[in-house]
Amino acid sequence: MKKDSVYTLGIETSCDDTAASILLNNKVLSSVISSQDIHKLYGGVVPELASREHQKLITPVINEAIIRSGIDKKQINSVAFTRGPGLLGSLLVGTSFAKSLSIGLDVPLIEINHMQAHILSIFIDSDQKPPNFPFLALTVSGGHTQFVIVKDYFEMEEIGKTLDDAVGEAFDKSGKIIGLDYPSGPIIDKLSKKGDPNAFEFTKPKVEGLNFSFSGLKTGFMNFIKKESLVNKDFIKNRLNDICASIQSTIIDILIEKIVSAVEITQIKDIVICGGVSANSMLREKTISLGRDNKWKVYFPEIHYSTDNAAMIAVAGYLKYKESITSDLSCSANARYKI
Ligand code: KG4
Ligand code: ZN
Repeated sequence: MKKDSVYTLGIETSCDDTAASILLNNKVLSSVISSQDIHKLYGGVVPELASREHQKLITPVINEAIIRSGIDKKQINSVAFTRGPGLLGSLLVGTSFAKSLSIGLDVPLIEINHMQAHILSIFIDSDQKPPNFPFLALTVSGGHTQFVIVKDYFEMEEIGKTLDDAVGEAFDKSGKIIGLDYPSGPIIDKLSKKGDPNAFEFTKPKVEGLNFSFSGLKTGFMNFIKKESLVNKDFIKNRLNDICASIQSTIIDILIEKIVSAVEITQIKDIVICGGVSANSMLREKTISLGRDNKWKVYFPEIHYSTDNAAMIAVAGYLKYKESITSDLSCSANARYKI
């Protein structure tokens, strides 16, 4: 089964992005992502609409990924797909499609854990040298916030997680409160650049160990905005950049404090920060400068592989294929698939 040139098709449908990618070993030949704009109308992902959109988009997206890669579909050596965690209806679309393709092309089917794939995206071919094992990973996305010790490609141990909202939700829900579009994370990041991070102060949650909590912060933020808007109805409009910079800086400070604790507790100084929120510019700047001061090595996946994409699914598939780890047709989508 082992070959020098392995072509992997990766399929990602865990949430609201329909994505497909072709890799030659760990090098990306194509990566196509179709984001479902329909959810913007509702200020968040509507699960039923997401699965219907995946159903519509999956064939053209996979087709486009194959065309852009320049290979023939007969050259594909394996089909890797997101088994979970995610929205069940969305996962079912990708899972069923991957199964039929693996039968049609007569190649192995490889199930991938979405959160492992976010971490393994650091092994996609790039100018950056990948970390050595063991390393610490912080996955920060719209659905998850977790600390993981990565002992090997597929040997991972969770050592901390959010007890309620994910950090991406903290960004998105705060954005919704001040009338920003979904997903608000990137918009808050952009507006913050023109604002003062010390303009307003928000109470940070006190959570033991390496766990997180963001729901109290969201409630505090909502109450603050309501109170200030009663005094001045144009408060949000007049102070939008300062509001964004202040909430962003509070959220990022929470992450930074926990990263410092995680290094202290584990004594591991190689840190991978991945998932959608790792695209945040303040998080990048602060951790890179902390890394410089403390002699940590901080790694970020390339920005276009930080948010949901299928290249990370394909690279995880390639790594499994090399170790002859494949799945059979009985494997089913798992919305709560553990890392
Ligand atoms: O990993 P991802 O694309 O999807 C999930 O698996 O959830 O993460 C999406 C999350 C959203 O909450 C989005 O607001 C957030 O990542 N995000 C950001 C930035 N870019 C994406 N949050 C803060 N700053 C950003 N630049
Ligand atoms: Zn994700």
